[in-house]
Order: sequence, then structure tokens, then C-alpha cells
Amino acid sequence: MEFNDVIRKRYSVREYRPDPVDEETLNKVLSAACLAPTAANRQPFQLIVVHTRGKEELLQKIYQREWVTQAPLVICACALPDQAWVREDGKCYADVDVAIVMDHLILAATELGLGTCWIASINVQAAREILGLPDDVEPVVMTPLGYPVHTIPVKERKPLEDLIRYEHW
Ligand SMILES: Cc1cc2nc3c(=O)[nH]c(=O)nc-3n(C[C@H](O)[C@H](O)[C@H](O)COP(=O)(O)O)c2cc1C
Repeated sequence: MEFNDVIRKRYSVREYRPDPVDEETLNKVLSAACLAPTAANRQPFQLIVVHTRGKEELLQKIYQREWVTQAPLVICACALPDQAWVREDGKCYADVDVAIVMDHLILAATELGLGTCWIASINVQAAREILGLPDDVEPVVMTPLGYPVHTIPVKERKPLEDLIRYEHW
């Protein structure tokens, strides 16, 4: 798939088929995520991969939507802020790094015909308990990973002129 098509075909998938994702495909997605650039190449992240079958009830304590566990897999992207690069003014880049990792993961998944959905509104305490995360591992975002039921809907976006400003000195 052309890169431009990948970007245009990615959308938030909220209905999944139960078909499994084979190991080779999963590994391609995870490898792409781990190639993501991170500040000072610190790679301050951890991806927790969960097979959803039989764990539906528990996973829905983290995010209460049935469609999340329709997918055979859920991946939770966590930050390790203690290992992240920190700018001179104190800004920690762990969340930025995790977002880039997740974007790589999601675009690689799209290219392979898989659906994903960024999910940030998780119950952090439930995620900590259920995924067994120590204090220094912070859940940032998760996604289901599976085959979508539908094809791409129309994307609603602000016009470019609202989002881009050209500075002419
Ligand atoms: C950082 C981030 C957090 C998000 N959190 C959620 C979420 O908790 N639940 C959800 O259903 N969608 C979530 N979304 C999906 C957005 O609503 C969605 O990307 C946006 O509406 C654009 O639609 P599209 O992804 O189909 O292009 C999140 C997206 C991003 C980038």
C-alpha cells in the first residue's frame, strides 16, 4: 500500500471481526512500532500485548466498550518516564515517544488490513492492576488489534487553513 493510502485508510475502528491475527502479522506490527524514533533513542516504552479471548470482562474494566474485546488482541502502550529524555526546562518526552510508537504501530497495522483505535480514556488504576504494571510503568494509550467489520468512513477534519500558518519574514 502507498504511504498516502495507509494514512487515508486508517480510521478509528469500533467494530471488529473475531478472526485471529497470526503471529507473523502481529510481529510485523510490533517490529514497526519498535523502529519508532524516540528522544535521544531512549526507547522509554513498553507494549503490553493481551489476547482478549476469555479476558473480556477484565479488559472492560480498563475501557468499558464491548467493541474493544471483539478484537482478538489489545495492545497497551506504556511510558517509562524515568528512562525518558528530559529537556533543559524539565519537559519529559515520554508521552511524545509513546505517541510516535503507537502511530507507527497503528499505521503498520493499517497497511496489513488490520483495524485499530487510539484509546486514551482508560481507567488507569484498573489497567495497573489487571496488566500488572509497576509504579514506574505508566499506561498512556491502548488499541484493539483485529480485522475491521466496515470499510473506511468519511473523515471529518478542519480545513487546512485553520490548522496551518505560514510565517513569512
Ligand atoms: C490520543 C487519542 C486518544 C483517543 N482516545 C479515544 C478514546 O478513548 N475512545 C475512543 O473511542 N476514541 C479515541 N480516540 C479516537 C479519536 O476520537 C479519533 O481518532 C478522531 O475522532 C478521528 O477519527 P478517525 O480516527 O476515525 O480518523 C483517540 C484518539 C487519539 C489520537
